[in-house]
Amino acid sequence: MKTNTHLFRNIAIIGVFLILALLAGSFSWLTAQPAPGKERGQAREVSLPVGVSILSAQQREGITVEQLSATTVAEDGVVAVYPERPSGLAQSARTWGELLIGIHPEVTHVDFTPIFATGSFLGIELTASAHERLASVLLVTDLTTEETWRGQNLLAEEANEAFAPLLRQSAKAGQLPLPHPAASEARSLIDRGLISVMFTTQGLEVPLPGTEEVMVIDYDTAPLTLTGRELAQSLTAGDEFIGLPNPPPATPRVGETITFPSDRDIDCARAKCVALTFDDGPVPGTNTVLDMLAAEGVPATFFVLGSQVPRHPHIIARMVAEGHVVGNHTWLHPSLPQLTRKEVRSQVRRTAQALVEAGAPEPVLFRPPYGAMSDMVRAELGALGYATILWDVDTLDWEVRDTDQIVKNALKDARDGGIILLHDIHQTTIDAVPEIIRQLHEEGFTLVTVPELLGGEVTIGKVYRHNR
Ligand code: NI
Repeated sequence: MKTNTHLFRNIAIIGVFLILALLAGSFSWLTAQPAPGKERGQAREVSLPVGVSILSAQQREGITVEQLSATTVAEDGVVAVYPERPSGLAQSARTWGELLIGIHPEVTHVDFTPIFATGSFLGIELTASAHERLASVLLVTDLTTEETWRGQNLLAEEANEAFAPLLRQSAKAGQLPLPHPAASEARSLIDRGLISVMFTTQGLEVPLPGTEEVMVIDYDTAPLTLTGRELAQSLTAGDEFIGLPNPPPATPRVGETITFPSDRDIDCARAKCVALTFDDGPVPGTNTVLDMLAAEGVPATFFVLGSQVPRHPHIIARMVAEGHVVGNHTWLHPSLPQLTRKEVRSQVRRTAQALVEAGAPEPVLFRPPYGAMSDMVRAELGALGYATILWDVDTLDWEVRDTDQIVKNALKDARDGGIILLHDIHQTTIDAVPEIIRQLHEEGFTLVTVPELLGGEVTIGKVYRHNR
């Protein structure tokens, strides 16, 4: 398929040249014999355009950027290595990696090399290869804004119009192993070369497909966008790199034990403990629940929706300040087994990020919406560094919407080591909270957070319903 496409394209290109040549009334530049004076190194009348030099393309040397970690994705016979952060660059690299794999079905490896780190700019070259390099793209990110561009997008619109004559003149000057290309061919070469355009301290490098050469264009001569110009200035001035922000804490591994320090003197091995859990917030009513819990000195565990967090970051901050534990309940409450692995990751990661931004510690506890799990979901949650918390007391508060009934349901099944499921998004549930606390206390229960119930520690990858 691939070869045929190339073949047809080549035939088409040759056809266009033939017509152009006929129009020009000359076949001379189509002959294999180079015209006198066009051989490289020979004396010539035409000189290179101002601000342009031609260099032999060489394998680019990477640089070391501290804290630039990588993540490996192995899927469908392709091993792809992407930067893990900063997030804008990580996302862009994945998008481009997947695109290159789509364009070149023979790709077996995608990898990246940091190329420059100057001022607030970080540039990586993302390469797709099989036995040999098939395609590469320069990705540039500005750490102060997290904006990311492909190298080509830092050129002004008129760039290929401007570069094609430079290429033709360079060819005329005998600096390229090309016969003097027609204007349309020069533009097509530039077009293809611009996909992997490179910013260097010397200038802008435009590789010339089908040759071993790159055209290096002085930044003064290169039409750049405003950001492109800033990058060029930073590169030529040799600005000091501002550095990557501090890395997030390393993701704990499956089987690892996470300890939750508590300043409360609780021993659920001796006391009769039960944990109240509230799902699906934060909503304005969550504040009422927090008031009730504060009035009784009772801590709880909240499994929150990431999409709600940016609307009520102060509620998250309050939960943390008042000694409650905040867990992850996905971004939008989907049933996770219906999603792809990638979607599951995104639901969980986005929520964790929103929680951290709102001032909560990196979440370790996760509750799947509807309690819905699958082998894929379980594996993914473990890999993302979570312990899964289900429940053994279902108050059915979302269904009954009757305060007395919710209290009864909570109490009926409450046993030592139990986890009670409630939803702070229903007024009938909120109204039930004081009575649930009163009756549990009356029955001699100590109300604790989920980590306290589990003895102050959880194991990553494990699923908990209670502690008995
Ligand atoms: Ni829920």
